[in-house]
Order: sequence, then C-alpha cells, then structure tokens
Amino acid sequence: MITIIGAGKVGTSAAAFMMIKELDDILLIDIIENKPQGEALDLGHAASILGLSVDIRGSNDFKDMAGSDLVIVTAGFPRKPGMTREELVDKNAGIIADIADKILEYAPNAVVMLTTNPLDAMTYLMYKRLGWDRSRVIGFSGVLDAGRLAYYASKKLGISPASIVPVVLGQHGQAMFPVPRLSTVLGKPLTELLKPEEIEEITKETVEAGGTITKLRGYSSNFGPGAGLAVMAEAIKKGYNKAFIASVYLDGEYGEKDVVAEVPVILGKGGMKKIIELPLTDEEKAKFHEACESIRKLVASIDPKYFKRE
Ligand code: APR
Repeated sequence: MITIIGAGKVGTSAAAFMMIKELDDILLIDIIENKPQGEALDLGHAASILGLSVDIRGSNDFKDMAGSDLVIVTAGFPRKPGMTREELVDKNAGIIADIADKILEYAPNAVVMLTTNPLDAMTYLMYKRLGWDRSRVIGFSGVLDAGRLAYYASKKLGISPASIVPVVLGQHGQAMFPVPRLSTVLGKPLTELLKPEEIEEITKETVEAGGTITKLRGYSSNFGPGAGLAVMAEAIKKGYNKAFIASVYLDGEYGEKDVVAEVPVILGKGGMKKIIELPLTDEEKAKFHEACESIRKLVASIDPKYFKRE
C-alpha cells in the first residue's frame, strides 16, 4: 500500500497519477476531517470509470498507514503568489517533525518521499528525525525541476522533451542550478544546440517555473509534482533502478557533507540505490556549493526542538 500524507492539491494529483499506473492501493491521510475520505471517494469513482483495479481510501487516523512500504509526504503549507519556498520553513518544520514521529510509529520499514517546501531543508529534517539510512528518505523535487528544464528546452528546439536528458542540481529554491552543459539530446549538450541567450532564457524559466505558475493561477503547482511523484513511486515499487534527479543526504559526494541537495540518483526497491557523481567544472562546483550553503542556512534557521524526539 502507498500512503499519501496530505490530501491537498499535490497529494490528490499524485494519487490520481499513481492510480492510473495501478501501482498499488492508495491511502490518503489528512488532518482535515472528511477531506481525505471525500477525495478518495472521487478518485475511487474515477478508477471505476477508467476500469482500474485500485482501492483508494481516505482517513484521519495515522494508524491506518500500518504496513505501507511507501509513504509520500505532501502535507504542509504551499506558497502564495510572491512568496519564496524558503519563507515556508517555520510553518512546515513542525508539521514534518510531527509526521516523522507518526511514520516511525506506524510505518517503520517504509521508504519516505517528500514534497513539502522548502524541500531540501524539510528532507534533511525528516532524515534526521527518522534516523534511518539515507536510502529511505528522498526529497522529490529534482524530477520537477529537471522536467521543467526539458520542457523549456523542447519548446526552443522543437524536439520532444522525452528526447532530452535534463540535469538540474543543488537546491529546490532560489539557488536552483540548471546545468545545460550536462543536459543532452542523445549525448549532444544543450549548450551546442542553443544560443547562449536561449540557454540563459530556459535556465531562468526553469528556476522561476513554480513562481510563474503560482502567479498566473493564484496557487502553487500540483500536476507537475503529482506526475513526478508517480514516476518515482513506480521506479521504487517495481524496482526499475531508474535515474532521476532527487534530493538526498550527501556524505562526501560532490565534496559536500551533512546536507540534503538535488543530485542524480538511481531509484529502485528500497529507495535510493546510488548517487551518480557528474564531472563538474570549477564554476559549476562553486554554484553547487552555493546551493548547498543556502540549504544549510535554511536548516540552521529550523528550531532545534524539531530535530529531537521526546
Ligand atoms: N498531517 C496531515 N496532513 C496535513 C498536516 C499534518 N500534520 N498539516 C497539513 N496537512 C494537510 C492540509 O490539511 C492540506 O490538506 O496538507 C494538505 C496540503 O495541501 P494544499 O494546501 O493543497 O498544499 P499543496 O499544494 O498540496 O502543497 C503541499 O507540497 O509542493 C509542496 O509547497 C508545497 O509545502 C507544500 C506541499
């Protein structure tokens, strides 16, 4: 069973995409009474119409997640127009600490994936509070950032995004670091396919993508995150050993220690199987380090009480 904690926009979109893929039965948990039950009912009707064999339930009781092998955390405040992800740190740290304890109690053997922002700092907090091996605690958003880079590059190139292998490193936030030199169309770097001003444009569009959506429609993105969570969940559930960009705890990789940041990883049974280290230029290394420093600063601003269990 896949448990999704947070039956809001991201949680329900993830459930819908996972349902279409028939990955497993799905449990939606939320603190708002009746909301997860109502969302599950609507999704269940959709499954029935589509002829899918997936059981979808909603609950306000964390006990019901017992036995889940994959727990997806989409609970927490999203940003409003004009806000940065970083501004959510105080509001969401308490929620993540609380949910970590529930996971420890009811799903101690699960793989945990998060979307709660600011993503890298919240993943670090979850990792520390759970005290598990880093392979089982994964921050989602690199898949989203990379997907957005492929989207904007595809528009300029007139080539399907499916033929682009995008690389975005660092922070899911203001210090995000798209790397066009390492993003390719079958081995040919975007830097050789696009003009420097086009590269600059797609880089900016990628970094600002989430903010652009929020500004245009008044609330933050959910279909991109839902789709990204579904493909990652698929790789984990089915043991595909597939490569994604995701946020994981670094212990020396890319010259960084004790920080969670976006890097290429292999996902399969049991979660993160491997971190792939890409050869970076000195300038790229500096940008990656800058992103890690920005994440460390955010982590340092989290009230220390959230790291300790009573
Ligand atoms: N336990 C369970 N659910 C919770 C908790 C909690 N402790 N705290 C909040 N929630 C629920 C809310 O009740 C709400 O239904 O989380 C849900 C969040 O849904 P939305 O407000 O629709 O937010 P969404 O757009 O889904 O974003 C969720 O993901 O991408 C990030 O920045 C985004 O941090 C945000 C998170």
